[in-house]
Amino acid sequence: MSISNRAAITAVHGYVPPDVLTNADLARMVDTTDAWITERTGIKERHILKGEGLGTSHMGAEAVRGLLSKTKTRPEDVELLICATTTPDFVHPCTANLICDMVGIRNIGSFDVQAACSGFLYALTVAQQFITAGTYKKVIVVGADKMSAIVDYTDRATCVIFGDGAAAVMLEPNTQGYGIMDTVLHSDGSGAKYLHQKAGGSRMPPTAETVAKRLHYVHQEGAQVYKFAVAGMTEVTRDIMARNNLTADMIDWVVPHQANRRIIVTTAERLGLPLEKIMFTLQKYGNTTTATIPLCLWDYEQKLKVGDRLLLAAFGGGFTWGGAYVTWAYDGASAPKLNGGSQNGKLVKSSWL
Ligand SMILES: CC(C)(COP(=O)(O)OP(=O)(O)OC[C@H]1O[C@@H](n2cnc3c(N)ncnc32)[C@H](O)[C@@H]1OP(=O)(O)O)[C@@H](O)C(=O)NCCC(=O)NCCS
Repeated sequence: MSISNRAAITAVHGYVPPDVLTNADLARMVDTTDAWITERTGIKERHILKGEGLGTSHMGAEAVRGLLSKTKTRPEDVELLICATTTPDFVHPCTANLICDMVGIRNIGSFDVQAACSGFLYALTVAQQFITAGTYKKVIVVGADKMSAIVDYTDRATCVIFGDGAAAVMLEPNTQGYGIMDTVLHSDGSGAKYLHQKAGGSRMPPTAETVAKRLHYVHQEGAQVYKFAVAGMTEVTRDIMARNNLTADMIDWVVPHQANRRIIVTTAERLGLPLEKIMFTLQKYGNTTTATIPLCLWDYEQKLKVGDRLLLAAFGGGFTWGGAYVTWAYDGASAPKLNGGSQNGKLVKSSWL
């Protein structure tokens, strides 16, 4: 790979909706307790997108709007936008198209990537190819999910985990050699039985009966998913480290998918990665599916320094799993801060809604 075409993350911005659902709130909805959720998952609260007519695109657009403003990028300078999501606003058109429309990006290629919780890493890997090939110089990758739209708030084993949110990164060529050094992607469709949504797709289109049977919600066999998640996260992290001759002491930050604190801690212990190097946001956002990794980067941006070595790892429905080795390309402490953060985003709907 020519070093002049290394794809680097040059900015990140996130958005979580203002409404917060705490463990105490959930304890009033299902038979659970703050103590159980905290001990078994590490999650204390999550943000939920409320408001009629607001879908995943709303949060994605908020994140992209912030990203454009932070980087002083004009919408017309963006050359490609990819949105990773598992909760698109519609079956079609794709959410990436809607986000572009909402932020004033016109006529460029934009599409969604669907790989459940690994979606952001999949989308990042796809986006990277356009930079390294020299095709584009400004690509936005968004991870956005409104999990509250597909979570069954009567299923206590599943509803406690998920939250809503979005975050976006800018990818540009880097001439110093920093950026995405390596990625690995995996999938195993036989794992679908443990984590899927039965109805609403072409196999089981929606009917009154599918709705009555609550088949439009996430079906999750938590203990099985947990087992595969630990194995998958360990595999990709170990693999990425071996392929790039990285030892635990060379890593500055581990950026894991935020599903369950125990999954992250077990994976880290297996690989000898100390907890102080691990980014955690699940205590306040829960599992935001495709948004977890970029939300971590957004939350920890101020601490990131040029040349920091980051290991990204995700596992999700499919099953899908993947990892990336990234060297950080800019000084996070010097990144512009948006006044009032991203939560003050105003409501901007798609032009045709
Ligand atoms: C979902 C998850 C938190 C459940 O935790 P767990 O320790 O595996 O719990 P189990 O499903 O084995 O259930 C253990 C007990 O806790 C109970 N339980 C489940 N959810 C509960 C809750 N919210 N509050 C109280 N008790 C609960 C179960 O009913 C079960 O009770 P029983 O022993 O009387 O039958 C955990 O399995 C998990 O995080 N799995 C991975 C999920 C994931 O990563 N999903 C996203 C993929 S990207």
